[in-house]
Amino acid sequence: MKLKIAVLAGDGIGPEISRQGVAVTEAVAKRFGHEVEFEHAICGAHAIDVVGDPFPPETLAVCQRADAVLFSAVGDPKYDNNPTSPVRPEQGLLAMRSQLGLFANVRPISTYASLLHLSPLRAELLEGADFVCIRELTGGMYFGERGRTNDRAFDTCVYTRPEIERILRVGFETAMSRQRHLTVVDKANILDSSRLWRQIAQEMEPQYPEVRVDYMFVDYASMRMIAEPRYFDVIVTENTFGDILTDEAACISGSMGLLPSASLGTGTPLFEPVHGSWPQAAGQNIANPVAQILCVAMLFEHFGLAEEGRAVREAVAQSIEQGIRTPDIQKPGGPHYGTTQVGEWIVDFILKN
Ligand code: IPM
Ligand code: MG
Repeated sequence: MKLKIAVLAGDGIGPEISRQGVAVTEAVAKRFGHEVEFEHAICGAHAIDVVGDPFPPETLAVCQRADAVLFSAVGDPKYDNNPTSPVRPEQGLLAMRSQLGLFANVRPISTYASLLHLSPLRAELLEGADFVCIRELTGGMYFGERGRTNDRAFDTCVYTRPEIERILRVGFETAMSRQRHLTVVDKANILDSSRLWRQIAQEMEPQYPEVRVDYMFVDYASMRMIAEPRYFDVIVTENTFGDILTDEAACISGSMGLLPSASLGTGTPLFEPVHGSWPQAAGQNIANPVAQILCVAMLFEHFGLAEEGRAVREAVAQSIEQGIRTPDIQKPGGPHYGTTQVGEWIVDFILKN
């Protein structure tokens, strides 16, 4: 297969993990006989510095002419600590999602047997936990009308029927490809937008008679997720709830550095780690490249290349098993491996196996 990949490294640890993602993509292409071509583009704080726009039109064009986008991270403390800044790197991320029509963010959560101890949760609760969070990505409060006067501010959560139907469909279809259990997470005891979600989900249920559907308020879901993570198979929820729940879910895997995601919709599919730009670690060669590398697995799988995806996952699992780990997941007193050493080990494993 021929694949053209847009590479958006962004800020902080972005460029370091991006290099490993690209190297792993090249290794897979070499081993399985694919042709990949990369086109790099700027985004985030880096793009603000260069052209004053966190998602410039040229970057959009690079994404649009690619088959997939390999994205890393955006964000910089100089904007976080300045609430009056007229432009922020995160706006680039939202513009990117919205302009590429990426309404579904698929965030798989799983565990590695040898890393269970890293979770703040007890190992016996975690063993075998394996679920997918489908987060709506281009609606809700992130994109609703907002405003502010001196001492009053508001954000609006708006969803239309077509927006809800298309994301619920991703939820039902994902459930069909897994254990056929779908949990719709909302706040239908309070919010009208949630009641519309719930109504539409109930209308769609008969189309998927094999899927067991349950409905859970988001407050209870957040508790259940850490009290009984094995309960879940597929969760579908709106943008803000999904943002919060997926950071919580990262506790189950033990490190944010392990979680990839796919953002899918009408435009070019995009693969992004769940973690952010971790500016404090930038340039230190300590960031875990695994989330980015697992994005590469998801990218190949998206194009139906399951063997390729498996090769990447196997290499990652072996690196963890054999202790080739960055400090965030290394055993106390274990050897030090940097971002590049872990990436190179994984590349080698893919090429040799
Ligand atoms: C995420 C991040 C982003 C979000 C931020 C960086 C804008 O937290 O992808 O979960 O809130 O969507
Ligand atoms: Mg988040």
